[in-house]
Amino acid sequence: MKKFAMFLALGLVLVGAGLALQATDSRADAAPCVRTKFDTKLTEDACKKGGQEEAKKVWKAWVAEAKKTDATMACKTCHTNMAPKFDLTPDGLDKYKKAGGK
Ligand code: HEC
Repeated sequence: MKKFAMFLALGLVLVGAGLALQATDSRADAAPCVRTKFDTKLTEDACKKGGQEEAKKVWKAWVAEAKKTDATMACKTCHTNMAPKFDLTPDGLDKYKKAGGK
């Protein structure tokens, strides 16, 4: 019986370690941003925090906010394409700064 309890405990530890490993793995899998140099604090912070997934999230929130003053604002206002590259239009950065972005 004592042996069984020990196996059980060992098993739990192994399962726990496995789960922990998986959790770190999925975070490492989060696609990093394409950019490595940033002109905006918004994107830099988000990319550092959670890669492109996080960047998308903060951009969506930013656009939702910007729409209140300019209803035409959309991803394509500044991006010529979306995932995975998110290339900018020539004046994409300018438009962001003019809209008050940092
Ligand atoms: C007003 C202009 C503007 C709009 C609108 C805009 N973006 Fe961006 N976006 C930028 C700029 C400028 C950058 C580059 C930022 C930098 O260099 O720091 C960028 C970068 C990004 C990146 C980082 C990509 C990478 O991997 O380097 C993502 C993701 C992104 N935008 C998603 C979106 C999404 C999704 C929308 C729509 C919901 C959107 N953007 C709307 C200007 C804009």
